[in-house]
This record gives sequence, structure tokens and C-alpha cells, in this order.
Amino acid sequence: MIDRFNKGLQQEIQRRKVRLPYACCLSTEGLDGFPNARFVSLKEVYQEQFVVTGALNSRKGVEINHHDKVALTFWWPETAQQVRIQGVATQLPEEMADRYFEERNRESQIVSVVSRQGEMLTAPEILTQAFDQLADDQHITTIKRPDDWGAYGIAPVRVEFLVFSESRFHDRTLYELINGQWSVKKLQP
Ligand SMILES: Cc1cc2nc3c(=O)[nH]c(=O)nc-3n(C[C@H](O)[C@H](O)[C@H](O)COP(=O)(O)O)c2cc1C
Repeated sequence: MIDRFNKGLQQEIQRRKVRLPYACCLSTEGLDGFPNARFVSLKEVYQEQFVVTGALNSRKGVEINHHDKVALTFWWPETAQQVRIQGVATQLPEEMADRYFEERNRESQIVSVVSRQGEMLTAPEILTQAFDQLADDQHITTIKRPDDWGAYGIAPVRVEFLVFSESRFHDRTLYELINGQWSVKKLQP
């Protein structure tokens, strides 16, 4: 299943012209019971877990903390595939979060430091001033990962690949983790 995912992602990346091939929709259960979904960027598949990163005290962070069962959904337009993943999210160790943070470009790192993601924006100029101050500081060569920025690994329990067909006879394959073993079955379109 992971092999199929990686192969599909690579095929998509090779063909794709858009800049964000790793974009996927992360769905969580809101504290009020409403599903809550937003796009994030898949960082990698690490030890059979799908890794996403962001502010730990953001809405998504709070929701994952409250309820660790999440969904991750991809649409790969070039290869016409949908991938639906359901799994359990856990926070990954700090060293891994450091590594993902280091891989971000400097501007993104600075935004993560100066912005309290999801809090009300009252004065945008305060944010841009804080950004410029940090960006222009000659003494700061390395931007340190904020304590409230981290990485989650999503361990899949159910993964469905759908290859879209114009005929609407989509090819659907469902992988399910049952008693520690992956079972596979085809689904009607
Ligand atoms: C293509 C795309 C990729 C994104 N990647 C991330 C990401 O990797 N991490 C992240 O925290 N937010 C990312 N965002 C922003 C999120 O969609 C969202 O606005 C943010 O995480 C706040 O969501 P929350 O309030 O539910 O926590 C991305 C947005 C888009 C459109």
C-alpha cells in the first residue's frame, strides 16, 4: 500500500506542472463536532506514517490533541487519482520537527516565529514589522524552531485509491488494517 502511494506520488510529481504537488486535505474532528478540513503539505512518508507539520496550538493542533483520528485526502490531477487516508495522528519527536523546520525556507521559518497561527489579526503592520526585524537581524543566522511548531505522523488504518475514469467506472481499491494485517479489496465505483 505504501509502495503504491509512493509510486503514485512520484508519477504525479514527474508529470505535474503546478508548484505544490504535496498538497493534501487534512480533516480533523472539531471541538464542536463539525468536521474541519484544510490543505497542508505532506512532508514525506516516514516509517509508513504520513508526515505533516504546523503550529501545534493552531486549531488543527488543538483538534488533533482532542481527537487523534484524522483523514488525509489527495487529488492527483495529472494521474487522475484520489487517495483517501484515515489514520491516527501522533506528534513526532522534537529532533524530527527540527529537521522539518530546517528544511523550510527562511521566510517560512520567520513567519512561523512571528505569527500566532489562527489568532485574530488586529494590526497586520505589527506582524510585518516583526518579520522585517527578524529578517534584517544580521546576528541571527539560524532561525530556531518555535516550541509550538511541530510534526505529526499519521499512521494509516484505511487507505483507498480511486483511479478516475471518464466512464465513471472508477477503479477503487481499499486497503484496511485488520488485526495488524493489511487486507485489500476492490470496491464498486
Ligand atoms: C497548498 C497549501 C498548503 C498548506 N500547507 C500547510 C502546512 O503544511 N502546514 C500548515 O500548518 N498549514 C498549511 N497551509 C495552511 C492551512 O491550510 C491552514 O490555513 C492553517 O494550517 C491553519 O489551519 P487551522 O486553523 O485549522 O489550524 C497550507 C495551505 C495551502 C493552501
